[in-house]
Amino acid sequence: MRTVYVNGDFRPENEATISIFDRGFLFADAVYEVTTVLEGKLVDFYGHMARLRKSLSELQISLSLSEANLLDIHRKLVSKNNITEGLVYLQVSRGPADRDFVISEDAETPGVVLFTQEKKLVDNALAQRGQKILTVEDQRWRRCDIKTVQLLYSSLVKTEAHRKGADDVWMVLDGEVTEGSSNNAYILTEDNTIVTRALSNDILHGITRQAVLQCARELQLKVEERSFTVDEVKAAKEAFSTSATGLVNPVVEIDSDVIGKGTPGEVALRLREVYLKASLAAAV
Ligand code: PDD
Repeated sequence: MRTVYVNGDFRPENEATISIFDRGFLFADAVYEVTTVLEGKLVDFYGHMARLRKSLSELQISLSLSEANLLDIHRKLVSKNNITEGLVYLQVSRGPADRDFVISEDAETPGVVLFTQEKKLVDNALAQRGQKILTVEDQRWRRCDIKTVQLLYSSLVKTEAHRKGADDVWMVLDGEVTEGSSNNAYILTEDNTIVTRALSNDILHGITRQAVLQCARELQLKVEERSFTVDEVKAAKEAFSTSATGLVNPVVEIDSDVIGKGTPGEVALRLREVYLKASLAAAV
């Protein structure tokens, strides 16, 4: 049984509780982060905590825990649960309040929950064979830059994609790809340029995205941050996604059309390798 963290205490997972009146439960009034664990260390911890602060500030939730406190909790959970590879999930909800659409002015106590998941991220079968993607309309709310727990649309469409034999979805807004269900989306054009949508409220500002684009620039690869269409994906040499848990994850098919040779692309695999090495070296 896992040890989890809830509001100041480490507890066995079956003894950790949150109020049924928590606004996270009733209104999805909560934000979260997922930090990768490789070789027992946290990848890009400070990047994730910086984004957590941004999400909290957008929702005006105040959290008294410092970065040092949060690091300590992350590390304790990794150690208590013997995680060498996997993730730490962190969620901060606004906390309990009488159910009302108006958020009470009274200071509520945020609900802080952390738990670990053991997962094989590096030697991953999906990354080896490449993902099959289906496109769907992006019907999420338009503040996708805030990492809230409102994940129902993404979860429903990804489930539907699985039922149809695909691995994930890429969402399309006004004819252009925004991102995957829980990852950022990229293509490599015929002239070897990596293209990914520019940062805006339409996508989550991926921590892995930032690190992978840095790796790409260090490898002297051309990078363009702009929107692209599904037709451009179909004509691309390669495609891939990035996320904390998927790392750099090749895409080989979109809406049943084969991308490039239909196998994980060279550039995607190289970026995966370089990103892994760099993130391990900097992990805390
Ligand atoms: N998801 N876009 C969306 C919608 C996401 O949910 C995520 C992360 C990303 C990639 O962000 P990062 O590189 O910081 O992980 C992009 C996490 C992994 C999840 O929900 O499990």
